[in-house]
Formats: sequence, structure tokens, C-alpha cells
Amino acid sequence: MQRQSATIIEQPSEGLRGFEPEILERRTGNCCCDTPKEQDHLYFRLDDFIDSLSDQDGVLIRVLHHAQNIFGYLPREVQIHIANRLGKSLAEVYGVASFYHYFSLEPKAEFTVEVCMGTACYVKGAANIISELEKELGIKVGQITSDQRFGLKVSRCIGACGLAPVMVIGEDIHGRLTPEMIPEILQRYSKPKEG
Ligand code: FES
Repeated sequence: MQRQSATIIEQPSEGLRGFEPEILERRTGNCCCDTPKEQDHLYFRLDDFIDSLSDQDGVLIRVLHHAQNIFGYLPREVQIHIANRLGKSLAEVYGVASFYHYFSLEPKAEFTVEVCMGTACYVKGAANIISELEKELGIKVGQITSDQRFGLKVSRCIGACGLAPVMVIGEDIHGRLTPEMIPEILQRYSKPKEG
């Protein structure tokens, strides 16, 4: 009689329990993929943090904070991962992540360019400033550039009406703007060219 070959299924060690199968395979070196996913190391960092939590009080908030620090925001895949790891539903994770303003479900730009559209700035030509910014950055208001360097928003009066029209980039206020000034100002916040 021919002997049946046995299939041995190795159980993950204690520290690896709870990983999604794909992540577990990568951790244990059994992954079939030739090219590791770019963000695996970020998920590993998140999992290490989750594994380190002994106190279960407020665990979801703490994990979401940590995940946002790692990923910069909380995309749906990260929410699913957290839900799996904590044994919660995606609806519960999403509910908490979307309730608090601190959490961002969309990628954030490194520099947010906010153009004031208060009355004084509007009268002094803020719309032309926005048009120039949209042209220079290649995006519309509410969008971010593909390299996530710049985001473009409009705001209400920021209390610097004497400098109208005004825009804020990061912590800096730029006033008495003309469209001609925009390229040079953006250049100051652009990535230094390599080489
Ligand atoms: S209206 Fe723009 S700063 Fe006040």
C-alpha cells in the first residue's frame, strides 16, 4: 500500500498569532512574492506596537494614533488591518477614526497652501492667486500634488487683512501677493533637486 504523504501545518509562534496570512508568510519567510510590498515594514512596526500592548483600555485609540504616526494617515487597508488584529469590526474602527478630527482618512500634504478668501483678500484679488497656484501646482483646490508635497485649500479671514491678499504655507504667512510672486514662493518649499 502506498503511504499517504502527510501535510504538516506549522502553527505560528505566540508572538505571530493574529497576523493576516499574507503578513504571516512574509514574517516567517514563506512568502511566495518575489518583491516585498513597499509598506510591509510599516505594518510590521504597527504589529509590534499592538503586540506590546498589555492594557486593553482605550486600545483602539492608541493603535489609531500609532498607525497615523507610521502611515501619515489612516487608509482603508490600515483600518482593515487594525480591525483584524484587534478583533473588531471595520465599522467600529472607521467610526472612531472618522469621529475625531485628529485622525485623517486622506493623505496629508507636507505643506498645505491656504489662500484666504475673506472679504479683504477677495477684493484684492485672491481668486487670481488661487488660479496661479492651481496652474503652478497642477492641482485644484482641495487636492494634493502626486508627490504629496503640496495641498491647496481656501480659508476664511485669518486676521491679517492689512496684508491682503494673503496665503499661509505651513507656519508662514505671505501677504500683499501678486500672481507673479507665486512661483518663487513655491520654490522655497519645493524639494531640493538631487545631484
Ligand atoms: S480677509 Fe484675508 S486676512 Fe482677513
